[in-house]
Amino acid sequence: MSHPGAPLRLGEEVTLEIADLAFGGRGVARVSGFVVFVKGALPGESVRVRVGRVRAGYAEGDCLEVLRPSPDRIVAPCRHYGECGGCDLQHLSPPAQAEAKRLQVVAILRRVGGLDEPPVQDALQAGEPTMYRFRMDFDWGVGPGGRPALGLHRSGHPDEITPIERCLLMPDLANEVRVFVGRRAQALRLQAWDAKRRRGLLRRVGIRMARSTGEILVILETGRGDPPALLQLARDLPRSFPRIVGVVRREFDRHDRPSGESILQGRDHLFEQVEGDRLKVPAWAFFQPNAAAAGALRAAVLEALVPGAGEAILELYCGVGLFTLPVARAARQAVAVDMSREAVSVARDNAASAGLSNTRFLCRDVVDALPGLLRESPWDAVLLDPPRTGLAPAATEAIGNADIQRVVYVSCDPATLARDLRLMLRHGRMVLRSVRPLDLFPQTHHVECVARLERRRG
Ligand SMILES: C[S@@+](CC[C@H](N)C(=O)[O-])C[C@H]1O[C@@H](n2cnc3c(N)ncnc32)[C@H](O)[C@@H]1O
Repeated sequence: MSHPGAPLRLGEEVTLEIADLAFGGRGVARVSGFVVFVKGALPGESVRVRVGRVRAGYAEGDCLEVLRPSPDRIVAPCRHYGECGGCDLQHLSPPAQAEAKRLQVVAILRRVGGLDEPPVQDALQAGEPTMYRFRMDFDWGVGPGGRPALGLHRSGHPDEITPIERCLLMPDLANEVRVFVGRRAQALRLQAWDAKRRRGLLRRVGIRMARSTGEILVILETGRGDPPALLQLARDLPRSFPRIVGVVRREFDRHDRPSGESILQGRDHLFEQVEGDRLKVPAWAFFQPNAAAAGALRAAVLEALVPGAGEAILELYCGVGLFTLPVARAARQAVAVDMSREAVSVARDNAASAGLSNTRFLCRDVVDALPGLLRESPWDAVLLDPPRTGLAPAATEAIGNADIQRVVYVSCDPATLARDLRLMLRHGRMVLRSVRPLDLFPQTHHVECVARLERRRG
């Protein structure tokens, strides 16, 4: 079968030269201007490919054989690589991953942001390339042979679960906890969730592990019901792993809506240390997934923001105050906003423990709070770190038009960053000075960026 106008047929085997790496980790080849995405192929490689899908504007293929490998190709360190959908760049050396991400940020800022020469700096490699994750979530579901399994989603088949023995992105102890939960749940006959039949109790296990303090928090996401075996599982966890400081539960109803939270054992938070700051992190609030590199991220934020001693800084999407504390130390005042009650309450505690009295935290939706905040005070700078979805258009407009000298935008998705920068810059009041990519998520295509905008002079 072929698509009209496409130079390739479904199932055809061809030799292709890979020119680029697409965002998402696939190699990009062009056949008479027609784009082919090749899973597992790297720029500079010549590969044998079977065409697996042909669409109106592009095709997708699987790499059958690498005929001429890239000098940056390495043997993927994880035995689940390729099968598990969690990582997509393990076959590329870590320094080359960082450079590939820099190039992708440049390309996205050009294509989506409409910027001809985006001022993108070198990508910073922060922390270790493996065992770096502060948190991982594993799903229960149907694994090979229809058996219940606890693991990550299968690459290309998100409705199936790949059982994971050892995930290289998390520390060994956290892996041991996950394996224990899987085995103990089976022994206690706790039923795993079957999404197709919509049956079963256990849906997801989250493991949070603080690198500096060693504390571990286990989060069990379940359906409704209180079988004694669930309490038994929660009791068994800290007995077997004394570093577990809490086991908490979030329940979901039949329509997959969160319907309650409870502490099954110990406490609902742990402590993580970032540089000199001891931060309380609750189970239900966001924290940087690569906690070991959080110091490097804070340094990049401060380098872009340069908070002055007499300045008032507005921080949007502050979480538990990771950036607020160093900003408040350097500035006259920091006002920080987040809509998560848990995050704001803990951010207040974190600021108090750090001995700071020049911070104010507001538990509000940024979109609602922003107009009033921008009227309230002449802010010297605004720092923002929204979720992956980026800013709401109203917030982007308001910031782009406001009388602010500097805006620092921290983003974990270059596509929404580029979209928002385009909107912020379109009135011509601001100019983009720098974008620093940070490779906080090695082995995956994800990248963090810190962008600095300045008010145009004159
Ligand atoms: C990427 S996290 C950043 C947190 C913090 N800067 C950090 O590094 O730990 C995004 C934060 O935005 C908050 N958030 C999401 N949507 C929001 C909204 N509409 N208004 C206010 N806060 C929001 C979340 O609760 C989360 O804490």
